[in-house]
Amino acid sequence: MQKTLQRYIEKNRAIAVQGEVADYIPELRKASVNTLGATVATADGDVVSAGDCSTQMTMQSVSKVMTLILALMDLGEEAVFSRVGMEPTGDPFNSIYKLEVRREAKPLNPMINAGAIAVSSMIVGKSVEDRLERIMDLVRVMSGNPDISYSREVYESEAAYGDRNRALAYFLKEHGMIEDVEEVLDLYFRQCAIVVTCEDLAKIGLCLAQFGRNAEGRQVVPPDIARLVKTFMVTCGMYDESGEFAIRVGIPAKSGVSGAIMASVPNRMGIGVVGPALNKRGNSVAGVKLLEDIAREWELSIF
Ligand code: DON
Repeated sequence: MQKTLQRYIEKNRAIAVQGEVADYIPELRKASVNTLGATVATADGDVVSAGDCSTQMTMQSVSKVMTLILALMDLGEEAVFSRVGMEPTGDPFNSIYKLEVRREAKPLNPMINAGAIAVSSMIVGKSVEDRLERIMDLVRVMSGNPDISYSREVYESEAAYGDRNRALAYFLKEHGMIEDVEEVLDLYFRQCAIVVTCEDLAKIGLCLAQFGRNAEGRQVVPPDIARLVKTFMVTCGMYDESGEFAIRVGIPAKSGVSGAIMASVPNRMGIGVVGPALNKRGNSVAGVKLLEDIAREWELSIF
């Protein structure tokens, strides 16, 4: 397994140069286009890594999965889906377009920025710090890594350059979908800056693959919530590339602009990928190809 993973990483490293590191947040520009690494954590207890797997990255949009889980655990499906929908958009992750043209200013799903901001506003807690700590605690129990924290530099960079997110949030406020814009954004920018490695992402993927049971066998997320978020990962997890990814790879997965991908193969394994060079849709260019290769090799497609 390790050799196969290594071989496909070497093969796909060459195509990473076709992509570009996200540059709309200055701190993300520091990543290297050549970085490519992955970890696989299986239900049998194997943890296999290859390439630049020890690279630290921020969760970025992968955190949208964590906040959705937490909001569902806090408030239940009815309350959460009264403020965010269940349909893919086919638009870029930060688009405002559908919010304005649809009859109801309800974000179409929790995996796009507008939806994730609405979801973050529902996380229960006394303060932003308290709510962030609860999100990080969920990352800690799902990954089995008690040392998870967030990057102040990335958070500050994100906050300084997050005007599109501000626009989305104010639009949502105007339509009564959220209340305190600055507070919600502060939480959203911090959750994006939570630092992880491929192993952490693989273990989170494994936890979802095992219907909420983490690698140590502890049920940390209710099974029905694990199933629900994996379904969102299939339909919306790779932004406006979700359809093509479902056809070519066929694994529930969520990406982030740091080049992170967290993938979850039901009952079998979790996969964490780092590959900061992004394609036009904002997904790791080499990471997507790597997943395509190993999905074919190990017959991982759920379809
Ligand atoms: O601009 C943002 O909202 C980002 N910090 C997070 C978005 C993200 O990862 C979208 N991904 N492809």
